[in-house]
Amino acid sequence: MNLMITGGAGFIGANLVLHWLRHQPDDLVVNFDALTYAGNLGNLEDVKDLPNYRFFHGDLRNALEISKAFSEHNIEAVIHLAAESHVDRSIHVPADFIETNVTGTFNLLETAREFWGDELSKHRILHVSTDEVYGSLGSSGKFLESTPYAPNSPYSSSKAASDHLVRAWHHTYGMNVVTTNCSNNYGPYQFPEKLLPLLINNCTQNLPIPVYGDGKNIRDWLFVEDHCEALDCVFHEGDTGETYNIGGCNEWSNIDIVRYLCRELDKELNRSGADSCENLITFVKDRPGHDRRYAIDAGKIKNTLNWTPRHTFEEGLTKTIRWYIDHQDWVSNITTGTYRDYYKHQYG
Ligand code: NAD
Ligand code: TYD
Repeated sequence: MNLMITGGAGFIGANLVLHWLRHQPDDLVVNFDALTYAGNLGNLEDVKDLPNYRFFHGDLRNALEISKAFSEHNIEAVIHLAAESHVDRSIHVPADFIETNVTGTFNLLETAREFWGDELSKHRILHVSTDEVYGSLGSSGKFLESTPYAPNSPYSSSKAASDHLVRAWHHTYGMNVVTTNCSNNYGPYQFPEKLLPLLINNCTQNLPIPVYGDGKNIRDWLFVEDHCEALDCVFHEGDTGETYNIGGCNEWSNIDIVRYLCRELDKELNRSGADSCENLITFVKDRPGHDRRYAIDAGKIKNTLNWTPRHTFEEGLTKTIRWYIDHQDWVSNITTGTYRDYYKHQYG
């Protein structure tokens, strides 16, 4: 099978490309990516010359580029991850999110529909989305696949719009689609604008750890390799037209996860007392419209497809911390110029 993975140079995309090449070696993986600030081909250095891997430098906002990739590589299936993915950036520059996440998804669906023609139902598109489309929870309850959509940020509303497009292309045109809505991921190759890698990077450099508001917002954390296994499983076993929630059953308030990570980093970096990473914690102005709590009920994927996360939180976090400490060059290469401008704009 010739499989296109969009956004394969990003965090989850790169982990998925590596997973696929390892576990599905008979497939040709075509990584379609525009290489925005979040895309980094260095993530795929080890596999770049494999005969079953190709990179296509293309932008979803340009339908002709998608069409060219489909024809050049005779694409038979797609896993769609490419997106603008950071909530804080979506607050500053929402237009990019509408263009890539909404128009880009529309361009992809239309290109696939034209290319696959009468054979549409034989070719699968897995659309990778987020639990943020469901909005914010109170202190109890979890998101089910039947939870009504109530997105609150420009990011989550653009992802919700893309989910609706995918759903409509299935119902109207018979496209063979599956959608996944996953909770917060952590792991290697995550750009250090997101909470966990930002924290690790700031601790190694003795910079303040910015915690928004009262730090009591709750997220459900999943190790990225477990997410990739879930995507593999849904792609192969999921029922057409269905959606599957993916989560780690692993809720943490921001301040608790920050303190926990600080303690783990103290051990790795041999810090204690006045040097402890915890002393870097700094409460800052809250994010506008900050969702209070996300939590996934992953019962459907567990009961129907037999997927559960393989890593405990402690295992995933240890692997993640080790990876960032061993890959300081990777971090310093991407935290130059535009990252510094973003950081200054966001944190002052
Ligand atoms: P990321 O920001 O790390 O990577 C996004 C990738 O998409 C980059 O390689 C970028 O170059 C590429 N891209 C952006 N705009 C593009 C365009 N117009 N055309 C082609 N390529 C483009 O994102 P991520 O964290 O890896 O997330 C991947 C997907 O998973 C997204 O759709 C996101 O909504 C979803 N998701 C992420 C999380 C999470 O915690 N990170 C959780 C649930 C769902
Ligand atoms: P983030 O990693 O941006 O993911 P998302 O907003 O998609 O959940 O943020 C995770 C949580 O951490 C979220 O509640 C916002 C909070 N946060 C901070 O407190 N400080 C920060 O510097 C960042 C980036 C996030």
